[in-house]
Amino acid sequence: MKEQLEKIYKCAAEDLEKSSSISELDEIRAKYLSRKGEFNEIKKNLKNLSDEDKRVIGSLANEITRKLENALQEKHAEFYRKELNQKLLTERIDITLPGKFTPIGKVHPLTSTTNEIVAIFQSLGFSVVPEEKSPEVETEYYNFDALNVPKDHPARDVQDTFYTEIAKNVVLRSQTSGAQIHAMEGKNPPIRVISPGRVYRNENINARKNNLFHQIEGLYVDKDITFGDLKGVLNEFIRIYFGSSRPTRFRSSFFPFTEPSAEVDVQCIMCEGKGCRTCSGTGWLEVLGCGMVDPNVLEVVGIDPDVYTGFAFGMGVERLAMLKYAIDDIRLFFNNDERFLKQF
Ligand code: DAH
Repeated sequence: MKEQLEKIYKCAAEDLEKSSSISELDEIRAKYLSRKGEFNEIKKNLKNLSDEDKRVIGSLANEITRKLENALQEKHAEFYRKELNQKLLTERIDITLPGKFTPIGKVHPLTSTTNEIVAIFQSLGFSVVPEEKSPEVETEYYNFDALNVPKDHPARDVQDTFYTEIAKNVVLRSQTSGAQIHAMEGKNPPIRVISPGRVYRNENINARKNNLFHQIEGLYVDKDITFGDLKGVLNEFIRIYFGSSRPTRFRSSFFPFTEPSAEVDVQCIMCEGKGCRTCSGTGWLEVLGCGMVDPNVLEVVGIDPDVYTGFAFGMGVERLAMLKYAIDDIRLFFNNDERFLKQF
């Protein structure tokens, strides 16, 4: 047995001598020192020997395996150093090479426009209505009734509004104005909020109209709020959004939920008011609707119109983005053409 051990050791030492890589060392370790390795096979037979022989052969086997283990470790350290040096030489990094281009997505222009408008109003003290208080699927109550829209108003017609099959009175909201009601319900003034979101209308789609678009609603209710406050806030918004002191005008208009109501125009950004195709020769572009909150609307949510007044406004995000970036077709926002989207 002693000879057998020495013979195996000699073989192992020869294998080791011939080896030249870490992976070969791993093979040698497996062949001789693993559980199924040659030394272990011998150790298994120790139990058949006399006590004396067991001690002698056992300690010899241990010594030989220790020697082999040490030799393996030395070789491993040597090969590791060699392989590392080789790697460092061959895999040298040229830090002067230009980096690889990794394409990343961009923020959609409607999202960036919404974010920009929201940030302007936040800087003026408005906060955003929580999403659950601004649902896209609404009852007629929030979309129309509470907003003082008469039962026979043409906007309620199925030609204009999408009715769902959930229930007779459940619609896809046609305006974000319902968020005003949600924001006021159960709250006491001062209330100063904005609410961006999607709206739906049963339109024939063309360059100016899509049946899905986006609006941003605003509402400010407190004691002593006047039309002067409304003008001040909206003029400031337009000044920041269009980037200069562009003239505005407030044109008398009508909305069921505001009295008095107005539409706000800015001087045409294409022709500086001279009159062109974009502004149909008028020199003005309509940007939003607004007005003083109708007392009926305040009453509906239990706010006393003799104590409080307020103003509200609503604007189309697509329209504002189209004016700012001179985009002439609303459908461009929705058909995901990279040539368009890459420009933002
Ligand atoms: N909801 C109106 C629309 O969709 C826009 C609007 C006008 C909102 C006047 C308002 C407002 O809050 O006061 O055309």
